[in-house]
Amino acid sequence: MIGSLIRRLRGRQARSAAVPAADVFDTWAQDGRDAWMEKGHGPIARRVFQSLRLSPDAWYLDLGCGNGYTVRWASALLSRGRAFGIDASPRMIERARALSAGDPRAVFALAVFPLHDLPLSSFDVVFSMESLYYMRDIPAALGEVYRLLKPGGVFVSAIDFYEENRISHGWVSYVGAGMSLWSARRWKRAFERAGFTEVSQERLVIPAEQAVERWHSTAGSLVTRGRRPPDSGRGEGSGRRSVELRISQ
Ligand SMILES: C[S@@+](CC[C@H](N)C(=O)[O-])C[C@H]1O[C@@H](n2cnc3c(N)ncnc32)[C@H](O)[C@@H]1O
Repeated sequence: MIGSLIRRLRGRQARSAAVPAADVFDTWAQDGRDAWMEKGHGPIARRVFQSLRLSPDAWYLDLGCGNGYTVRWASALLSRGRAFGIDASPRMIERARALSAGDPRAVFALAVFPLHDLPLSSFDVVFSMESLYYMRDIPAALGEVYRLLKPGGVFVSAIDFYEENRISHGWVSYVGAGMSLWSARRWKRAFERAGFTEVSQERLVIPAEQAVERWHSTAGSLVTRGRRPPDSGRGEGSGRRSVELRISQ
């Protein structure tokens, strides 16, 4: 099962042209902005990540992983589990692999999500930081996350580009890639429509002295989480583990 998943992920070639974001983020990785994003997103991502309380045998996936910093956080906690990162940008995946060289638990794949051909019910936790709104078909992406999770598994997404965060509205011209500006309510409903239960949302605000990005201490990051229902069937490789959903600040 794990061999099959790794083979399928490693064997993939991203169709970069199909994702405008991939070209943009290739450039960002080349000029070091992967590290800039890690620094900027890190304080929020760390809080959300810690709330997941990964067990040592968890299977973890970061969707739109950038340079893979949360995959390394996960890998450091795992003894029998695995930590995967997917990104559509070839240069980001190169950076992620270089930064995780020698770590057998961290696996990175160049892939445009959703993929539609990965083994179902594989992951205990799927995490995504500042990536979901780049997906061309967000409902399809959410549906795929749901199917990739084991019954009882948890998906958490944190984003800074959303309707209520007015400061973010100008980013489209700055980033220059296809981005969906949705309201908090629309994100919540999309999670529910994809089948997630226990869908909850918060605007995660951190103290100004800890915030690298100004909006993290003002509007905050929109964190949406949901669970694949424990009784939603046991697909290939499924197995239940309880994952804490609350954010501890
Ligand atoms: C703003 S960056 C965030 C990266 C990382 N999560 C972080 O916090 O630094 C968004 C990332 O999502 C990736 N991405 C966008 N659309 C994608 C898709 N459809 N499939 C996979 N990755 C995607 C981009 O290539 C980029 O690396």
